[in-house]
Amino acid sequence: MSDSYIQQLFADRIGGRNYGKSGAIYKFEKIKRAKRAALAAHPDAEIIDLGVGEPDEMAFPEVVAKLYQEARLPENRGYADNGDSVLKEAAAWYLERVCGVAGINPETEVLHSIGSKAALSILPAALINPGDYVLMTTPGYPVFGAHARYYGGKVHNLPLVEANGFLPDLASVPAEVLRQAKALVLNYPNNPTGAGATPEFFAQVVAFARERRLVVVHDAAYAALVFEGKPLSFLAAPGAKEVGVELHSASKSFNMTGWRCGFVAGNELLIRAYGDVKDNTDSGQFLAIQHAAAHCFDHPEITVQIAAKYSRRMSGLVEVLKKAGFSAVKPKGSFYLYVRAPKAAALEGGRRIEFKNAEAVSQWLITAKLISTVPWDEAGACLRLSVTFVAKDERDEQRVLREVGARLADVKFEF
Ligand SMILES: Cc1ncc(COP(=O)(O)O)c(C=O)c1O
Repeated sequence: MSDSYIQQLFADRIGGRNYGKSGAIYKFEKIKRAKRAALAAHPDAEIIDLGVGEPDEMAFPEVVAKLYQEARLPENRGYADNGDSVLKEAAAWYLERVCGVAGINPETEVLHSIGSKAALSILPAALINPGDYVLMTTPGYPVFGAHARYYGGKVHNLPLVEANGFLPDLASVPAEVLRQAKALVLNYPNNPTGAGATPEFFAQVVAFARERRLVVVHDAAYAALVFEGKPLSFLAAPGAKEVGVELHSASKSFNMTGWRCGFVAGNELLIRAYGDVKDNTDSGQFLAIQHAAAHCFDHPEITVQIAAKYSRRMSGLVEVLKKAGFSAVKPKGSFYLYVRAPKAAALEGGRRIEFKNAEAVSQWLITAKLISTVPWDEAGACLRLSVTFVAKDERDEQRVLREVGARLADVKFEF
């Protein structure tokens, strides 16, 4: 069959006339397919899904009740555009109370987002001209970089490795890249490594950005999900507001991934530019959802409860993996455990399997052990395991963890 003329019309940024023809299967699709195949081969078995990147529970009942109440108000029905003051004020207060960032002006330095992903897709339009570089950490959440490329920008990857505490080496950026660099995108607590930043690192980032005239975009999607100490905001670093913005989201901190609501805060000029592009992109999140999210940001104790659950599960998972031979270290936050992938597995009966990368390990774990994980091969072969697995209650949670241990008990991993 000949191509529809539509095939000839696609923009080069998505592959032009070859759009959809590469046959390449992306990582998350491969994982989905492997999971489906494992389920088909073992229809009665339990797949333990440690690959999920979102909370396993609903938003708290009080938040659902708030949405119900707000959804009934006629004044909330229309286009929200760039939002009213409710979420802005809650956000400024949240930054002060939870993150110790005083002095954020809710009118001029905060604006809502339809989730951090949406904000990360809008900000490049405000900053990136063809040829401009973005400095992005890898492995990482790629959305800002994908959109920067859509605008003709280029991405320079900064590897996150254990030896550096999973913080990027800013001094490693080549001079010719720096000359054309516009933005540095960071994310702490980090997906997928679970690493946290430090005040010293953020101070270094501010100095680097000032010196190199860069915009800093700090994606704090997991900000308050910390297992020890207080949440650390980039905006708490002296001078941060002069160089960048921070993105917060109700998705992970309040079990609200499907609700699509967060906020961007920081530099006034950047917020204004984000707002101008946003205004030409969406018509704002439903005010009832914004107001329910504002309720959350006014009740950070919700996140404390969620983080306590993840912390408990994380301790359990670390123990199970250590017993299986992994060098697992409990992260300081997020819900991700990031471990070095084994190079081989010796099985009972003398069989030995060699793995060429983390993806091969992940495929083997789902096929042979019905355990789903996410492989990352960008900066060393590693696996990401998430503690947002499905469990009915705390007892069931312990059962799932024991089951992971039992399934790995007959394997001797080699690293
Ligand atoms: C690092 C990071 N940033 C942003 C997002 C998207 O968050 P939101 O639901 O607020 O769009 C995710 C979701 O997985 C993430 O891991």
